[in-house]
Amino acid sequence: MKYSYISHLYCPKCAATYDHNQVNQLCECGSPLLVDYNLKELSQHLSKEDIINRTSDLWRYHELLPVQKKENVITLGEGMTPLLQMQRIGRDMDIPNLLMKDEGIIPTGSFKARGAAVGVSKAKELGVEDLAMPTNGNAGAAWGLYSTRAGIRSTIVMPEDAPKITRNEVAISGANLYIINGLISDAGKVVSEAVKERNLFDASTLKEPYRIEGKKTMGLEIAEQLNWKMPDVILYPTGGGVGIIGIYKALTELKELGWMDEDLPRLVAVQAEDCAPIVKAWQERKEESEFWKNSSTVAFGINVPKAIGDFLVLDALYKTDGCAIAIDDEAILHEQEKIASLEGAFVCPEGAATFVAARRLRKSGWIKEHEVVVALNTGMGIKYPDTVSVNVPTIEIGDKI
Ligand SMILES: Cc1ncc(COP(=O)(O)O)c(C=O)c1O
Ligand SMILES: [Zn+2]
Repeated sequence: MKYSYISHLYCPKCAATYDHNQVNQLCECGSPLLVDYNLKELSQHLSKEDIINRTSDLWRYHELLPVQKKENVITLGEGMTPLLQMQRIGRDMDIPNLLMKDEGIIPTGSFKARGAAVGVSKAKELGVEDLAMPTNGNAGAAWGLYSTRAGIRSTIVMPEDAPKITRNEVAISGANLYIINGLISDAGKVVSEAVKERNLFDASTLKEPYRIEGKKTMGLEIAEQLNWKMPDVILYPTGGGVGIIGIYKALTELKELGWMDEDLPRLVAVQAEDCAPIVKAWQERKEESEFWKNSSTVAFGINVPKAIGDFLVLDALYKTDGCAIAIDDEAILHEQEKIASLEGAFVCPEGAATFVAARRLRKSGWIKEHEVVVALNTGMGIKYPDTVSVNVPTIEIGDKI
């Protein structure tokens, strides 16, 4: 049996195909490339029961991942994060079957570890020695640390407003870190130039085909954790959109494998009110989004004014009868506090946004009371200590409380 059933890369825009044994970036037409697998062949060799006793990390799905030799796997134990019942907050918003996929409990503190583990492992397999990427913080932290573990040099450019802790994570990994006075789109331009001039591997979101495969494992895990049943709704905080595209790809592959036969869940792209290009495009039933000027939000990971894979996100929303919704910062921070005080879970602002979205969609009737709803918390709240306002009394030694 093969370790991976990868067959080739293909372009979702112009249908060109590429060899996965070569280093590839974008398609010649400018679109991201996606990975295809020999699912028919795999279905004859593997059943979902075979997975049960495997290691409790994302490599348990190695046949559906692109790394072909086990010795190239770079891991810090990422994956198989909990899918938690959220009864109190669920009751509060009238969704009794509300679940949270908690990506705070993963190496590097955010779901970006998944994309980095698979992306860096595949880069190592292909002989990459030097990579570069722009980041809103968490991805840079993960790619810096995983690259170091793989013995790959990394150059990472981050906006100066990105969460400070992620800056420290990149710095301590030994990566070449640059801070830019601008947004991730500005960081992206600097990286593009460096990639051309210094012949680096471009690990920017969707400019290499394998990060999405790592993020896909969130979808595989949700399916397995629900005993191979689809939930009704999955809400995802959408910046570059890799996670939502990945979840859609995972569930589609599981259907093709014959491991699940229900309809896909309705996917919801959750964005911030002051950075909502996908929401605007979805409302206008467009196939692509427009650059969002002067974007800003406390949920820094979703401050992405224009995503290169926007057409794939929108396609996933249209195909699943999903929707897109924008949430204001005030509601995000209020919900973050509510989740912590009702559930004991300190989620990141991006994660909190998905709960506000669930609350609003339940109120409008888009989510029905009986439905199984999964909210993605993409990172741990302690990465963003400044979002919490602390208002407590100070006492003197000897004072009574
Ligand atoms: C915590 C967090 N949530 C969500 C996102 C958005 O991720 P995606 O690119 O998959 O849309 C990011 C990206 O930086 C993030 O750091
Ligand atoms: Zn193409």
